[in-house]
Amino acid sequence: MLKVVVLVSGGGTNLQALIDAVEANTITNAEIIGVISNNRNAYALERAKKHGIEGLCISPKDYDTREAFNDAFLCVLNRMKPDLIVLAGFLVVIPEKMIRQYENRIINIHPSLIPAFCGTGYYGLKVHEGALKRGVKVVGATVHFVDEGTDTGPIILQKAVYVEQGDTPEILQRRVMEQAEWKILPEAVNLIANGRIEVTDGQVIIKE
Ligand code: GRF
Repeated sequence: MLKVVVLVSGGGTNLQALIDAVEANTITNAEIIGVISNNRNAYALERAKKHGIEGLCISPKDYDTREAFNDAFLCVLNRMKPDLIVLAGFLVVIPEKMIRQYENRIINIHPSLIPAFCGTGYYGLKVHEGALKRGVKVVGATVHFVDEGTDTGPIILQKAVYVEQGDTPEILQRRVMEQAEWKILPEAVNLIANGRIEVTDGQVIIKE
């Protein structure tokens, strides 16, 4: 059984997609053992509670230095002994020490087709604003492993979504979530839980 910890900052619809998939058995061999938020008021923590999942809050604001926060954060996470860490709308920079310790065991969902509209400054609605401003006709989402860069780790799954006339960033964000994020994030967790993912030379291979 793969022990999964989900890190969140906001609404937690991607967390919900994971919880639903575990409950519906579309994710097998995995269990969500905890949810960590940097924001006490994140609705994601409510979602965890409703499903009997342990929810914790740890925020950089409660520490004098970033280093002190990073140490405490790693400590909280290590105590949970996760096999996989899922960043589902987590807006805090992951400490390098954590990335090294959990190499190829941290995944992130990003609401664009990487390498478009990703990297520093592209988060939340800014991704969709960028896509609309450029006038691209196809957008989408990416699940990737987390490495030391921003959105640079090995890509696990991607799914494309069409832009429609009259889209606003909010409308596009919602469509990308519904048609891509909520599908490929559970799918990636299921592949990992069932030993189907291999990383070789920075490339993900999905085994039959
Ligand atoms: C999603 O768009 C995700 O791709 C991004 O942050 C958002 C989180 O939404 N990284 P939610 O909290 O899962 O509803």
